Amino acid sequence: MSEELQNSYDRVAEDYAEQFRDELDKKPFDRKMLDWLAEKVSGLGVICDMGCGPGQIARYLHSQGVGVCGVDLSPAMVQQAQGLNPDIPFQRGDMLALSDVADNSYGGMAAFYSIVHIPRQKAVQALREFRRVLRPEGVLLLAFHIGQEVKHLDEWWGKEVSIDFLFFKTEEMKGYLTAAGFGLEEVIERDPYREAVEYQSRRAYIYAKKEWFSSSPPPLNPGGTRCAMKNSPRNKCSFA
Ligand SMILES: C[S@@+](CC[C@H](N)C(=O)[O-])C[C@H]1O[C@@H](n2cnc3c(N)ncnc32)[C@H](O)[C@@H]1O
Repeated sequence: MSEELQNSYDRVAEDYAEQFRDELDKKPFDRKMLDWLAEKVSGLGVICDMGCGPGQIARYLHSQGVGVCGVDLSPAMVQQAQGLNPDIPFQRGDMLALSDVADNSYGGMAAFYSIVHIPRQKAVQALREFRRVLRPEGVLLLAFHIGQEVKHLDEWWGKEVSIDFLFFKTEEMKGYLTAAGFGLEEVIERDPYREAVEYQSRRAYIYAKKEWFSSSPPPLNPGGTRCAMKNSPRNKCSFA
C-alpha cells in the first residue's frame, strides 16, 4: 500500500507543489491554528511538519521564527520541499514507522492532511509513532477532512495514481488519539473556504498533548486497538 501511495505522490509532487505551496496565503484560519501551535510549543523544541508535501506548513512556521523540520513518505515530495525551502531540513520517513527519528525528538508536530492516507485500522499505530517522537508536553496539531467516506483517485493532474483519501468523523479521531495515549486539548471544526481556495469539505483541527504524567500509552488489545474510554457504552473498540 505504502509503495503505491509513495509512487503516486512521487509522480504528482511537482504539480502538487505548484498548486499548494502558497495555499496558506488564502487560509487565515489555518495560519491562526499554526500560530496557536507555535505558542503552545514555545521553548519545547522543533515542530515537525509530518507528511509535509511541499513544506508550506513548515515554511509558514519558519517565517514566524519557529524551529521546524519536515518528513514525508515521497522522496520527490521531499525534494520539492527542500528546493522550495532550503533553510529547513526535510527527510523521507513513513509515519507508521519513523525508524530514523528518536524518541522525544520534537516539541511539536503539525500533521496537515497526511493522516488521511492511513487506513483506519492503522490510525492508532501512526498516532502512537507521533506520540513516541514528541517530547513530554509536546503538542500535535492534526488537520483532516470530516466525514466517513473514502475518495479514490486514479488520475491527478493527468498522471496515473492510486490514492485513497480517508475522511474521519471528529469523534472517531478523538477515539484514536486517546487510544494512542494523547490527551485531548482543543477540537475545532470549520466550514470550507470557497471552492477556488480548497476542496469543499468540513475540516477538523485537533490539538493533542503527550502529557508528562503518562509516559507510555495503554497496552494494545489483541486486535491492535486500545479501549481507552472504558466506561463508554460505545466502547467495544468499535472505532477499530
Ligand atoms: C494530501 S498531502 C498533504 C501535504 C501537506 N501536508 C499539505 O497540507 O498540503 C499528503 C502528504 O502525506 C504524505 N504521506 C502519505 N502517507 C505518508 C506516510 N505514511 N508517512 C509520511 N508521509 C505520508 C504524502 O506523500 C503527501 O505528501
